[in-house]
Amino acid sequence: MRRPAPLLGCRPVATLSAVDAPAAAPLVPPAPVPLRRPSPWRFFRSLRTDVLGTFAEEAYERPAIRNRFLGRTFLLVNDPAGIRRVLVDNAFNYVKPASTLRVIGPFTGDGLLLTEGDEWRGQRRRVAHGFAPARVRGLHPSFAAAAAGLNRALDAGAPLDPGAFEAVALDAVLRALFSDASPDRRERLRGLVRRYLSDGRGPGRIGMHDLFARRPDDFAFLLRGRRRFRADWFAEVDAVIAARAGVSRDVPDLLDGLLAARDAETGEPLPAAEIRAQVATFIAAGFETTARLLFWAAYLLALDPAEQDRVHAELAGGDPADDGDAAARPRLRAALQETLRLYPAAPIVTRRALADDEVAGEPVRAGDRVTISPWLVHRHRRLWDDPAAFRPERFLGRPNAFLADDAFLPFSKGPRVCIGAGFALAEAGVVLASLLRRRRLLPADGPPAMPVAVVSIRPDRPYAFRLLAR
Ligand code: HEM
Repeated sequence: MRRPAPLLGCRPVATLSAVDAPAAAPLVPPAPVPLRRPSPWRFFRSLRTDVLGTFAEEAYERPAIRNRFLGRTFLLVNDPAGIRRVLVDNAFNYVKPASTLRVIGPFTGDGLLLTEGDEWRGQRRRVAHGFAPARVRGLHPSFAAAAAGLNRALDAGAPLDPGAFEAVALDAVLRALFSDASPDRRERLRGLVRRYLSDGRGPGRIGMHDLFARRPDDFAFLLRGRRRFRADWFAEVDAVIAARAGVSRDVPDLLDGLLAARDAETGEPLPAAEIRAQVATFIAAGFETTARLLFWAAYLLALDPAEQDRVHAELAGGDPADDGDAAARPRLRAALQETLRLYPAAPIVTRRALADDEVAGEPVRAGDRVTISPWLVHRHRRLWDDPAAFRPERFLGRPNAFLADDAFLPFSKGPRVCIGAGFALAEAGVVLASLLRRRRLLPADGPPAMPVAVVSIRPDRPYAFRLLAR
């Protein structure tokens, strides 16, 4: 077995200068384990504890890498034209594999994230209006209310750590989409997610059976923990829906839209099961990811005090009501996009090919797995200049690079692009601005936070920022 490759991208942040910054605070991915002739056990262990560790050093250089594992072909695609082929031009030839349905399904049921074909098309049409730019603009006050809650907690002495970002992101989703501000429910939902993932040890961790399974319910006897989780999670989702009975609002939210939706042909309301699945999906898809974006943005700005000052200066002259608007806050938006480049909250997009195809010059056979990793593409040495450095200015003047740029895909691309991208960026803008207006963020004492990918990219420890009042 080859030894692990040396650490990639150990260059320090280009602009690190101030006394508060640690002397050597590199933005480093973990040591990748070479994949050319890996021990299958080592690959599998990495897969369940930290997906980032499964990438070979050469994966940061090459357009595509083919591997065989458990009798299956896996094609890892970095080439932007190949990515476009899979996610955009021939997107409907690629579906989510059984392993994804098994691990994520207990969170979402048959909601938008995991359905396919006509069912998916209909669902997307029915919820799209809730995420239109004008609707998201109307949600900024909910984001501001969640941010105010975070600031109150910090004033009372709570730490600013990954848990604080989870709480504010979940609060924002629950308020904005479901007009639900119950702290008890929020904490129960967070507790359930912790139980499911619990750093790669909960029922959500990927097992060998997930990789062998051809259907979502194969090896059902091994899925007891996930079934229990699903029952508890959906009981909370039902409580979110039930809490709405008889509550009236001036501005209808997403749940109002789902409850009021009628089938264009039959005039029937949406089935209760679809409403449940959608509520579950938006809670699950919307909060972990944005919590990670917030954490890593705060982390990078704490490591780069000069950039933090520039963002603060932009905020100082502006009206907080505009903090979620990219046009009004170009530096803030650039910092958020650069954060998503370095730490894309969803580091892997996996598909199963339905029919033969050719991608990045490589043949794809029906049944092959195709993996696209925003983490790899965003740190690819042939696609980015100085890929390991935090340089938000690369996104200045390109507020929507996440939609336009083929080598930048934190929200994926094509018909199945993240429906909540605008929501997440606006929410992160409002919450981060509200923090930075009141406080200077300083790095925690001790070693840097290392990224670990189990579903999303999280820090490897309960990293608590040091804070100074502004
Ligand atoms: C920083 C925050 C976020 C990131 C990085 C992110 C990333 C992604 C990615 C990469 C996908 C594609 C997954 C795939 O096709 O395999 C996706 C899909 C999705 N996201 Fe997000 N997301 C974020 C926030 C949100 C928010 C706030 C919501 C909703 C409130 C949301 C809801 C969804 C849904 C429903 C899908 C499935 C869309 C479809 O298949 O039609 N996401 N997201």
